[in-house]
Amino acid sequence: MKDISTIYKLSVVAAICFIQGKCPVLECWFVQEKAGRGGGLTGATTQEKSLLHIRTDAGSSSPETHQAHSDINPSRVYVITDPAATLCHQSFKAPKGSVKKPQCEVNPFLPQPSSLRWVSSLTEPALSPIYLQADWFSASFQGLDEQLGVSTITRAPTGSTEHEVILSVTSKTMSAKTRLGEPVTLDCGFWADSSSPLYTSGFAVEWRYQTRGDGRLVLAYDGKTDRLADTHEEGVTLDFEGLYKRGNASLILEEAKVRHSGTYICTVYLPYLMAQVAMDLEVVEPPSLSIHPSPLPLAVPGQTINIHCDASGFAPLHLELSWEFKGADGKSRSLGAGSMSGHRQAWDLTYSQRTRLELDTSKLDLGRGGEVTCVAVHAGGTRRASMTLSIIGFSSPSIEDSMAMVGVALVLYGLIKFVSWTFTGSGSDKTDEQDKVSK
Ligand SMILES: *[C@@H]1O[C@H](CO)[C@@H](O)[C@H](O)[C@H]1NC(C)=O
Repeated sequence: MKDISTIYKLSVVAAICFIQGKCPVLECWFVQEKAGRGGGLTGATTQEKSLLHIRTDAGSSSPETHQAHSDINPSRVYVITDPAATLCHQSFKAPKGSVKKPQCEVNPFLPQPSSLRWVSSLTEPALSPIYLQADWFSASFQGLDEQLGVSTITRAPTGSTEHEVILSVTSKTMSAKTRLGEPVTLDCGFWADSSSPLYTSGFAVEWRYQTRGDGRLVLAYDGKTDRLADTHEEGVTLDFEGLYKRGNASLILEEAKVRHSGTYICTVYLPYLMAQVAMDLEVVEPPSLSIHPSPLPLAVPGQTINIHCDASGFAPLHLELSWEFKGADGKSRSLGAGSMSGHRQAWDLTYSQRTRLELDTSKLDLGRGGEVTCVAVHAGGTRRASMTLSIIGFSSPSIEDSMAMVGVALVLYGLIKFVSWTFTGSGSDKTDEQDKVSK
């Protein structure tokens, strides 16, 4: 037992060393508004390369590696202390020599009270603590796996390049996909420095939806007064126990609908500070297919039959429909896309679309028929529906048909033979008699 506990302790120590030893150095863009000239040009910004050395413990020695980046201004090299180790995640560590790198941008940040209803209580009474007089940055990071996003607010004593994370907001679902009707959790978690004087006066959480000019408040929670703001959104909630215990501000959607597709922004507020991550949710539902008429009518060679394939209940809109034919030889071949109709949208915002196949049985070598299949290729998956096509009275008989015909001919021949034998049998007697008579 002693051994086991020793091993356990050693592995904990090793794990801590591992975490601390493996925090990355991140190359970031340092972006700020152009100084001077009264900010005449709209939104003019400057972009400089910068380097962030991440560590989890302010006490640990400053990273030794200030070398090798000749293209980076030394004053844009920062050391960031991130006690929650959020930025030490595997997804921020690019393999050596890798072209793909985590994305990151740093901006100067100006702490200020918010006038939003669910946030304003945090900054009452309206004091501006001396603590705020420092250098503040906001930074956003996106991991290599494109699912992890982090946004931080960091503080450094004025003029220092050693920053500390005061607030970080994280999402592990930067691009989420779901089927229609499924419950969805959009991940958002936050961490705040509990030693910061801003921490004690509470926090607020806000979820916003934003897509193509359409924006709305989904949920807002004022942690100081423990109140949810009135919104018109139904079927959304937070896990409040997780929120207080683990800073888990994930949004829970009870049932995914097409109108839920879009961008969601999770914002966490501390007094004077805010950090946010934006993530995308896409509701993807493959189509249901049906073929009409059902079953297909018997066809005769030379006849043209119209077959419809209806795809319905799908989202998003992009869909490819096509037709295939599988004959008696078991080989499949394409019959093309047919003529596609325009799409229609149902009350639940899912789409439907139809394609019509004009099947000319004389032009295509369809034999006695086979299986006609409608194929739908969609982001939600490929769907197929099949129907049997029978062609009768064909002109070129197959081997089995020929044999059947030979069989029928033989039977017929036999019958005729038999009938004529019974007749001619008695007839020949008479002729014999007649012969005798005539003799
Ligand atoms: C956060 O809460 C959601 C919903 O309850 C849950 O699915 C998720 O696992 C939680 N995340 C963490 C890190 O605890």
